[in-house]
Amino acid sequence: MTLPSAFNGADLVKPDANPKEDIDLAEDTPLDISPESFGTIGKVLKSLKGFNLDCYKDKCIKRRIGIRVRATHCKTAEDYCDLLLGSEVELELLYKVLTIHVSQFFRNPLTFRKIKEEIIPQLIQQCKNRDHRELRLWSVGCASGEEPYSLAIILKEHFQEDLQDLNVSILATDVDADTLQAARAGVYGEDRMAEVPDPVKTRYFKQVGSKYHLLPDIKEMVTFRQSDLFDPSSYAVSDLILCRNVLIYFERSQQQKIMAGFATVLEQGGFLVLGKSETLFGPSRELFNTVCPIERIYRAV
Ligand SMILES: C[S@@+](CC[C@H](N)C(=O)[O-])C[C@H]1O[C@@H](n2cnc3c(N)ncnc32)[C@H](O)[C@@H]1O
Repeated sequence: MTLPSAFNGADLVKPDANPKEDIDLAEDTPLDISPESFGTIGKVLKSLKGFNLDCYKDKCIKRRIGIRVRATHCKTAEDYCDLLLGSEVELELLYKVLTIHVSQFFRNPLTFRKIKEEIIPQLIQQCKNRDHRELRLWSVGCASGEEPYSLAIILKEHFQEDLQDLNVSILATDVDADTLQAARAGVYGEDRMAEVPDPVKTRYFKQVGSKYHLLPDIKEMVTFRQSDLFDPSSYAVSDLILCRNVLIYFERSQQQKIMAGFATVLEQGGFLVLGKSETLFGPSRELFNTVCPIERIYRAV
């Protein structure tokens, strides 16, 4: 079978750029904000949205609050606090900025190539050697679904026979209900499709005007669920966990706890894939072997 170029070979090698919104945010300067105002914003988010600022990196959060302060033309963080306390709409907008949802199909294509050529074949073999024939893939912080749907497309495209032989599930979770709704709808603009080869676009999407509608065959392979990474009881037993471009926003101590949680729910020999700016550190290095440091692929010991 001839593979679509973006799945196969040197023409896939493109710079692994992060989508633009991540870069813009990284370049914004953190807002000068008093501990009182920061505390007030934290309380509002905690009580009305269940969002715990303490788990996220201060600098990162302040940068994002700064985005809303500028967008609302408030002169100071204190003025912004007053606005926030009186406006549900602003609370929603702030929450959106804090839980950034940028993604793309096949984001970091080389990572997906490794998943297709190395990880999935090994997992299928592992699966066939054990009693239960379940293969469980989990995309954590799945945003609007591009990542789990990319997995689904790879399975459909290259592992059709195994899909019939094994019980394969793809779980996709995110803390944000709205982004999950968008994920379930499966409708995408051109910006999300840059890494999708034309034949794959044609096979799995229906173009309607400027939008690409994912076909039901792929949509029904993914189960979406709202869940917070800070709730370890929601972690799913898995053979492969993709947690990319989520941990970067969290304090290191939180990242550490999350990695330990992943190690607990990963089957022996299961894989963990992180984002390109994320890595294992401290005690979590004892829990995984490094498979590919460049693509941030690790394997449970
Ligand atoms: C930048 S997107 C990453 C999307 C995708 N994984 C990728 O790499 O293209 C980060 C996602 O993490 C989610 N997120 C942030 N905090 C979270 C938490 N505590 N639990 C679960 N998801 C969270 C956000 O809502 C957002 O959709």
